Amino acid sequence: MKFTFVTLFPNLIKPYFEESILKIALQKNILQIDTINPRDFTKDKHKKVDDTLIGGGAGMLMTPQPLNDTLSHIKKKDNSAYIIFLTPSAKLFTQKDAKRLSKKEHIVFVSGRYEGIDERVIEMHANEVFSIGDFVLTGGELPSLVICDAISRNIQGVLGNSSSLEVESFENHLLEAPSFTKPNIFKKNSVIKEFLKGNHGKIATLKYDLSLLKTKYHRPDLYKKLKTKGKYHEK
Ligand code: ADE
Repeated sequence: MKFTFVTLFPNLIKPYFEESILKIALQKNILQIDTINPRDFTKDKHKKVDDTLIGGGAGMLMTPQPLNDTLSHIKKKDNSAYIIFLTPSAKLFTQKDAKRLSKKEHIVFVSGRYEGIDERVIEMHANEVFSIGDFVLTGGELPSLVICDAISRNIQGVLGNSSSLEVESFENHLLEAPSFTKPNIFKKNSVIKEFLKGNHGKIATLKYDLSLLKTKYHRPDLYKKLKTKGKYHEK
């Protein structure tokens, strides 16, 4: 799987792939990454990539020409490139999207800066547009890394132990149950006693109940979906 990051600040992207799991995935060639700077495509003699808003409004917007030429260049080289724009005014990215997108061959993330991107470029090129939450960041670079990370761990071979994917949060619309490691007692706090007894059937039931409680308390919106989809039975 290839990820291309279209950004005015490529140096924000590269360090994230220099450690841990994603570094190993690059070394194994399971993932490839590339960055392209739209400033290199501007026809403006001062290399300008932003301008004021038509119709008024504060701040500057990324102009269409450099981004349009960057994306046309990428598509010309690879017509399978799947283009995702990041903006806070879009649908929210979810775990379901991460799984679905992990089947693509080449994803291109387009990061806005300043007050955003001229809407016409989004309409001309976007296969999808995502927000990562109801807050506004200074640019799309962090959201693109967040989404890239979430997609990558669903790609075969990226995680050492892919069975860990099955029990984590959002599988079956549930938050993951609390987990513990050694020591059994830490600063006078014990792990849940049942977890120490080795009865895996009982532990699984308890974990499921704890997942339900956690979801009900922290994410009533998810819990409601669970009930309406008939995914759990009230005892
Ligand atoms: N750019 C700025 N804020 C963002 C957000 N919340 N999601 C996606 N892109 C963004």
